[in-house]
Amino acid sequence: MPLHQRGFVLKTALLLVAIAIIAAIGAGAFLLMHHDDGGNGKAEDDGGDVDPVLPASGKYLVAFFSRDGEQYDVGVVDKGNTAIVAEMISEYIGADVFEIKPKDDRYPRTYTELTEVAKAERENGARPEYAGTVPDLSAYDRIFIGSPVWWGDWPMIMYTFFEDNDLSGKKVTIFSTHAGSGLSTFHENLKKIHPGCDVADGIAVRGSDAQKSPEAVKAQVREWLDDVVPRGYQAPVFNFEKGTVKLNSGYDMPILGIGTYALSNEQAENSVYWALRDGFRLIDTARIYGNETGVGKGIQRAIDEGIVTRGEIFVTTKMWTADYGNGESAIQGSLNRLGLDYVDLMILHHSQPRNDVSAYKAMEKAVSEGKIRSIGLSNYYETYDFDRLARSAGIMPAVLQNETHPYHQSGEMKEHIAKYGTVLESWFPLGGRGNTQTLFGDPTISGIAESHGKSPAQTIIRWHLQAGNVCIPGSSNESHIAEDYEVWDFSLTDEEMSRMRALERDERFADY
Ligand SMILES: NC(=O)c1ccc[n+]([C@@H]2O[C@H](COP(=O)([O-])OP(=O)(O)OC[C@H]3O[C@@H](n4cnc5c(N)ncnc54)[C@H](OP(=O)(O)O)[C@@H]3O)[C@@H](O)[C@H]2O)c1
Ligand SMILES: Cc1cc2nc3c(=O)[nH]c(=O)nc-3n(C[C@H](O)[C@H](O)[C@H](O)COP(=O)(O)O)c2cc1C
Repeated sequence: MPLHQRGFVLKTALLLVAIAIIAAIGAGAFLLMHHDDGGNGKAEDDGGDVDPVLPASGKYLVAFFSRDGEQYDVGVVDKGNTAIVAEMISEYIGADVFEIKPKDDRYPRTYTELTEVAKAERENGARPEYAGTVPDLSAYDRIFIGSPVWWGDWPMIMYTFFEDNDLSGKKVTIFSTHAGSGLSTFHENLKKIHPGCDVADGIAVRGSDAQKSPEAVKAQVREWLDDVVPRGYQAPVFNFEKGTVKLNSGYDMPILGIGTYALSNEQAENSVYWALRDGFRLIDTARIYGNETGVGKGIQRAIDEGIVTRGEIFVTTKMWTADYGNGESAIQGSLNRLGLDYVDLMILHHSQPRNDVSAYKAMEKAVSEGKIRSIGLSNYYETYDFDRLARSAGIMPAVLQNETHPYHQSGEMKEHIAKYGTVLESWFPLGGRGNTQTLFGDPTISGIAESHGKSPAQTIIRWHLQAGNVCIPGSSNESHIAEDYEVWDFSLTDEEMSRMRALERDERFADY
């Protein structure tokens, strides 16, 4: 090694040793502080109940700078230390990623050459430019920002990034990889540039550990994230005053609606019109019912007559399995047939592991374009199958529409999806065409109906609502539709609810 390089390496080593000592003293003080506060195990209390199945409940961005090439104490690497940690974070919490990458090829792969460039940048107060466009930061609940420590500070390109992007009022968690300096001065630096930024100190990983023992670092990163990132969702709660439920998407959904399965376009138009006139505000259709046009006409008739406005109603349609490979045009097709600019809820009609995730992604894109407000699933009957989809989702399913009625109450599934803030919606709420008399004639149901002076249909609908199921009875009959909405003036007692619960037989009427 040439003499001048040896001198430089020696100086760097000395500097790093000095920094390591300071960091070690700092770490000791940190440990003492924590010991002094009584060691009440807060982290364990907060993180102990985390269900590892649940994805993170917020939207996150990881922005980082990292350099590959020759590394301190490691040798030549293809992926920088900070890049490895950034990837671990984004993978675990499903965060978007922005790499703060220099516009030019300014950082040599040789360590000693790099240190000279870095030192010169520092001495000149350089502001190296980075490539690409930073995502819209307002879209994120928290931004994780990572960097190596260079000369006890950020690399200068980080200053460019921070000065370019206003982080006032944002929640930012900083992390680093280093050779002994920990988080160094990152916290103070950020506070100086953006005093209004809500900065939290994150993980500081020894760079060589990220390369040499990634599994151990991954475990450490995950343990840390379990404390930082919320994974619990609010279980859906029905508001009987308003007749709505707040979805995990933030929108209110009416809890009682009109179903349109098996109705022709003409029947659907009438049923939807009568339903809106009688007070229903939720409408359920699907591309495969072949009646979206009729549904759209019924809605338009009610709007034209001043019965409702578009904003007051909640329209659901579903994407059919054959369209999963072509999600974008399927969505546009439904909107065109309905004559609407957006639907309130679009549902994947059936689980189809082969390509339902890509169809779901198409719906997520449509959400960002304003064509869909909330996303749902239908006919996912296994909890692991629901989890499979939910884990790959950027937007949690707001609704799961499954066959649900007194003989198939979906209790376990409802409890499972509540952890995602997902609400259950019942199809075949009355048993479905051809089966309604089985339920209407059930002595428990008819007995409870009689004691309230209500019909069996109304009793079952009321049971759905009190059990926490959004209910969409289907009908083409004007007087049945009026009857199905008259369920707000009575309620089942706890004892009646438990008698209804006892009707569970885990028996479906449909065979799909
Ligand atoms: N996601 C899926 O895979 C899926 C599958 C099936 C259904 N769905 C959705 O769920 C909705 C509900 O299911 P569904 O319509 O198939 O079955 P349903 O609502 O359980 O039952 C519909 C049957 O109930 C009758 N009915 C309705 N109100 C009545 C009343 N007050 N008195 C007596 N009979 C009454 C209807 O007859 P009349 O027409 O004579 O009133 C019809 O025969 C569907 O319309 C559809 O939107 C989704
Ligand atoms: C120019 C330069 C200066 C460095 N200065 C420090 C330092 O002051 N303190 C420290 O702990 N590590 C220092 N390091 C080591 C890096 O912070 C560490 O290797 C880091 O993990 C590199 O991250 P990266 O692979 O993502 O670029 C320095 C490294 C370089 C290249």
